[in-house]
Amino acid sequence: MKITKAIFPAAGFGTRFLPATKAIPKEMLPLVDKPLIQYGVEEARDSGLKEIIIVTGMGKTAIEDHFDTSVELELLLKERGKKELLKIIRKIADKVHFAYTRQSEPLGLGHAIHITKNLVGNESFAVFLSDDIIDSDVPVMKQMLSVFKEKQSPVIAVQKVPKSKTHLYGVIKGKKVGPRTYRVLDLVEKPKSSPPSNLAVIGRYILTPGIFKALERTPRGRGGELQLTDGLRELLKSEEVYAYEFSGTRFDAGDKAGFLQANISYALKRKDMARELRLFLKKLKL
Ligand code: G1P
Repeated sequence: MKITKAIFPAAGFGTRFLPATKAIPKEMLPLVDKPLIQYGVEEARDSGLKEIIIVTGMGKTAIEDHFDTSVELELLLKERGKKELLKIIRKIADKVHFAYTRQSEPLGLGHAIHITKNLVGNESFAVFLSDDIIDSDVPVMKQMLSVFKEKQSPVIAVQKVPKSKTHLYGVIKGKKVGPRTYRVLDLVEKPKSSPPSNLAVIGRYILTPGIFKALERTPRGRGGELQLTDGLRELLKSEEVYAYEFSGTRFDAGDKAGFLQANISYALKRKDMARELRLFLKKLKL
């Protein structure tokens, strides 16, 4: 079965970035000069996914505007002969189609996914959490799609983290079945103690439509929210689930320090900025 749809949950309040996110969606915070969510959308597109479904909420219209055509802006750039900028602006929504749905209550990631049930239909689909920025040669979703092609079962992205950090993630208990690939035997959302391993769930998932029924059977979990991790645990009762230890550098852009690290790292890769930034960093007496 070919996967075409990518879900982007984006209804959260972004409280960790207040006051910056009081009037601006967290997903629109710039990583160098592109909003966070655009990195995920480009990863989806570069992995061959053309249908982008964004789950938004109150105060998130900037996301829709960003991926829409701005006739006035394009006209202005054309008149001023700003060809390069015009190209960049037009490329934002190139080759993909956007659909939006709203999560009107903050009931968790599992709930945000369940809202897309009718839009997704009876197909497998991908999920991107735009806080997780991953710099890699081969887009992470593309890496995961090759595992899905072979297994035809859900695939979760995982990464080894220090034991002291496992309480911040969904954590899997897995059995290695191939290079970088694990069969998931169990998974726990943000374990307070005794994590089943150091393999943490990172925000990229390939899910089968069975997840919708599984979520319907799942009670609310951590923080009183419907957790996707708990839904996957329920899904384990009826389907095999795999985890893939992707290759790439991941930044937690949902965390202030991680967001800054991502900015520095991406800026250092930019020809137009690297030299000056490197000189500045060298001058800092750290
Ligand atoms: C979510 C998931 C968690 C996962 C994490 C990855 O948590 O619930 O299982 O490990 O994303 O970034 P959040 O960071 O949104 O609290």
